Formats: sequence, C-alpha cells, structure tokens
Amino acid sequence: MKIAMIGSGYVGLVSGACFSDFGHDVICVDKDAGKIAALEAGRMPIFEPGLDALVAANVKAGRLSFTTDLKAGIAGADAVFIAVGTPSRRGDGHADLSYVFAAAREIAELADGPAVVVTKSTVPVGTGDKVEAILRETRPDLDWAVVSNPEFLREGAAIGDFKRPDRIVVGAEDARAEDVMRAIYRPLYLNAAPLLFTGRRTAELIKYAANAFLATKISFINELADLAEKVGADVKDVARGIGLDNRIGGKFLHAGPGYGGSCFPKDTLALLRTAEENDVPLRIVNATVEANDRRKVAMGHKVIAALGGDARGKRIGLLGLTFKPNTDDMRDAPSLAIVEVLRAAGADIVAHDPEGMEQARPLLGDIAYVDNAYDAARGADALVLVTEWDAFRALDLKRIAAAMAQPLLVDLRNVYHPDEVAKAGIAYHGIGRGVAGAEAPIEKVG
Ligand code: UDX
Repeated sequence: MKIAMIGSGYVGLVSGACFSDFGHDVICVDKDAGKIAALEAGRMPIFEPGLDALVAANVKAGRLSFTTDLKAGIAGADAVFIAVGTPSRRGDGHADLSYVFAAAREIAELADGPAVVVTKSTVPVGTGDKVEAILRETRPDLDWAVVSNPEFLREGAAIGDFKRPDRIVVGAEDARAEDVMRAIYRPLYLNAAPLLFTGRRTAELIKYAANAFLATKISFINELADLAEKVGADVKDVARGIGLDNRIGGKFLHAGPGYGGSCFPKDTLALLRTAEENDVPLRIVNATVEANDRRKVAMGHKVIAALGGDARGKRIGLLGLTFKPNTDDMRDAPSLAIVEVLRAAGADIVAHDPEGMEQARPLLGDIAYVDNAYDAARGADALVLVTEWDAFRALDLKRIAAAMAQPLLVDLRNVYHPDEVAKAGIAYHGIGRGVAGAEAPIEKVG
C-alpha cells in the first residue's frame, strides 16, 4: 500500500516508520522544512527509543521518505493519514482543530484522485464529519472516504505499542475504506491483534474514553494513596491487592505525583468540553481532572512538609523533570507545579534529568542543572525523586547520604523500599506508605 502521513510529529513519525517497516511505501509530509531536512539527515525531532534505527533502516530500504511537498506526497496514495497536532485551545480546553481542517483543505485542493483520508490525530467526536464536509466542498468531483483510526501509543514505548497493539480501532462508514484499512493493518492482525470496526463517531469516542478511564485509574489510586498514608496502609500493596482481580487489572495503578504528558491532561479536558456541549455531565472525569491538578501542587507542599514545614533557603535536588521516563517531553509534567511551589517557598532548586533538561530550561526558569543524581544530592536538604528513570532506580544510597546536607528522600514514585533507604541513614517519605518499613510483600502475607 502507498501511505501518505501528513504531520511528522510524534504520532505521524512513529506510525509512518512502523507502517514502512511492515513493507508499505510511506511518505511523511511536514510543512517544517527544518524538520524534514533533519529527518532526511537521520536526526529525529523527538526522543523515542528505537525510532532512529527504525527510520534509518526503512529509509535505506527505500520504503520511507520525507517531503515538504504535500502534492507529491499524496499523489497516488491509497490512504492519506492526518497526524497533525490538536493542542488544547488556550482558555477553553477545546481541542484546537485548525491544523486538522487546514490539512484536509490542502489535501482536497492538491489531490489527483479519490483517496481514503484517515484521522490519526486525537479529535473530538464529530470531527470526521467536518473533515468529510471540507473534502467534499473543496473537491466535489472526487469520491472521498473519511476514517477515524485513533492511536494508543505511549511515549517511550511507542514502537512496541504500535507493533503489538491490544487492539486497532477503525471507524469507517463505507466498505471501500474498510478494505483499505484492512490491507494496511494486515501485517498486524495476522499477529492476532483485534481489528475493531466501528462507526466513525464511535471510534472517535473510544479514544477519549480510553484515556479518560486510564486517567481515572491514576487519580483513584492517588487519592487512595493519601488515605493509605493516613490510616497506616501501603498503597503499593493495595494496588497489587486490587489489581490481581482481573476485573480491575493491575496496570495504571501506580500512585505518583499525578499524570502529565501530551494526552491525558488535554484529552480529559476536551472530553469534558464535548460533554458540556451535549449537556451530559461526566462527573467522574471532572473529579479525575480536579484531583490531578490539585495533586501536582500538593506534591510541592509534601516536600515542604518533609522539610519540617519551611523550605526557605533549603537546597532541594530534583531527580527527573519529564512527565515520565524515556521521553524528553515536559508537557504538563508534575515537575512544573512542584518547582513553582518550591520556588515560591524560597527553596534553591537543583535538578537532573537524563533527557529532559533542554526542554525544561525555558519552562522552569532559574534553577540549576547538574549532570547526575549524585551532583543533585550534593549539599541538598532534600532529594526528590520526581520521574522514575532507570538511572535513578539503583542509586548508591550510602553515597547519596554522604553527599547530602540533610539525608532526606522524598520518593514520589515509590521506587525505593523504605527499609533500604532507612538503612542507608536517609529519612524516607514515599507516596501512600503509611507503614514505612513495616510491610511485607503481599504474596508472603497470607
Ligand atoms: C497515554 C496513553 O497511555 C496512550 O495510550 C495514549 O495514546 C496517549 O496517552 P503517554 O501519555 O505517553 O500515553 O504516557 P503513559 O505511560 O500513559 O503515562 C501518562 C502519565 O500517567 C504519566 O505522567 C505517568 O507518570 C502517569 N502514570 C501512569 C501514573 O502516574 N501511574 C500509572 O500507573 C501510570
């Protein structure tokens, strides 16, 4: 199949590279000439493990190419994917669809034949109808089919998620589009990945429902963590104890500093706007968002409390700034709120992140950056583990203790066992661990 991918951002690039790896002929199109030139030179605009090698191999094999020329890119394509950004519109939380609509208009103006247009960007319910209207109005002479094919990729694990998906959702309204999508995903469903055909609006809603549900699991366990802390329970064991019930499932039950990233915060807000417009209250999603917003700020105050209630003049080392490991993405990262609270409280902040420091600099203002965790600990009154990068999972705690002015670890990801930290002479504050040091692994309990 010949595929044109409009938008070489995170989703477009990963999807384009993976489709080409399946043997399809893929052209990635982007207006940003600098980005296209960099890609042609083998430089990735984002950090995603394995992506550079995947791109290089498929470019070499002649299956993947890049262009700024949309007309040439879509010429003769069996499917044109729209994978442009849909950021939150400033002020009202609506998804900004101007890039999607502009892409649709341009595709219609420059198309040389009938095409199946597939929206991969996350778009509110009903957007496919609008895209179809734009295509038909602009080029009534062509026979258009519009498909919704949402992505469920996690940053840092996107290639694996694309190649081994739990399911592929395709919202199509006609048989021709279904056939094209079947052919595109054939390499995957031979691996038994369910290909779920639904109506187009249903597919659009599935994407938002999935993200809102996952965000809800996180806010749920985060609030439970607060309770566990108060009543002398361990939220890690609570999560395991409920997660072993197949009806609940153990994933997305890690208590932490709140969810961030490019999807959950934006998509939950956009879903709430759609719900409001349709006069259908989504109270649970609303509470999820509110709990998460409060949580990020509360994490800053948790650090201050661990310092005895006053952070003025205290040196605080932050380990990790990105919203999660294996990405350089700082969008809606909990570190943003934490730094704001700590700075307002008069703390001196020094931070290390394996990939995110460049992105963090313009967002976090005047904090100091260091090259590793031990330098972040040097002379610090508190060390705060914000993002669970592998590099922070097996620190030499004795060395950390010796480097700190006051050995105190606030572990916002529950990476460490309270006992091992205490043994190294460091005071420990985790998330939802009211029984610091006293718990046994749940398997050994009963
Ligand atoms: C998410 C969805 O997983 C993916 O399917 C969708 O396509 C895009 O949004 P992503 O934002 O890359 O992917 O990251 P994810 O791994 O889902 O984590 C999102 C946030 O939730 C992170 O801030 C993470 O730290 C937090 N999280 C996740 C928790 O706090 N606890 C968990 O148990 C899981």
